[in-house]
Amino acid sequence: MTVREATSADAEAMALVIAAVAEEGSIATEAPVDVADRARRFRETIEGAGPAAAWVLEDDGRVVGNAGIHETHAAGVLALGMAILAEARGRGGGRALLEATLEHARVCGAHKLELEVWPDNTAAIALYASAGFAVEGVRRDHYRRRDGSLRSALLMARPLGDGD
Ligand SMILES: CC(C)(COP(=O)(O)OP(=O)(O)OC[C@H]1O[C@@H](n2cnc3c(N)ncnc32)[C@H](O)[C@@H]1OP(=O)(O)O)[C@@H](O)C(=O)NCCC(=O)NCCS
Repeated sequence: MTVREATSADAEAMALVIAAVAEEGSIATEAPVDVADRARRFRETIEGAGPAAAWVLEDDGRVVGNAGIHETHAAGVLALGMAILAEARGRGGGRALLEATLEHARVCGAHKLELEVWPDNTAAIALYASAGFAVEGVRRDHYRRRDGSLRSALLMARPLGDGD
């Protein structure tokens, strides 16, 4: 399993990962995913200037996961998201993707990296907590889902101060 920065040529494979993981309900994006539109948005991130960036996780040359970083409304605070195909989990890929995003955020001069996660996503919460992310709050009944229900999300973040 290797992590590298994404190129435009990866955009469709990355969108297909999101489409597959969205079927589980573990990420904010809901199924069914418009793969072409999602690939176009990945291309914009990959080709654009600024701190927004994306990475792919490869297993034997096949894209099995990805991570992305984008700016938030708060200057110096970047937000991340990641997803790995179910069959490729538990082999260190999530931690490797997270390390890549942390390194990039530091190089960009960001002072904090944040994310949102469903409160029942124990695997992701454990990964982030083990990498120094702490829960900063709960966005209660914040996200309207396509079935009409409302979901809460945990806000987790990690400061990127000197010595980290
Ligand atoms: C969250 C996710 C990215 C983790 O990726 P992964 O490749 O399985 O994680 P790793 O193998 O690198 O494991 C890193 C750490 O995560 C935690 N972890 C991973 N799977 C876990 C599980 N099933 N239960 C509890 N903790 C788990 C552990 O702390 C683990 O560290 P350890 O191996 O030293 O115990 C992956 O499960 C995934 O893509 N899930 C679906 C999408 C998703 O939830 N994205 C995040 C939304 S915010």
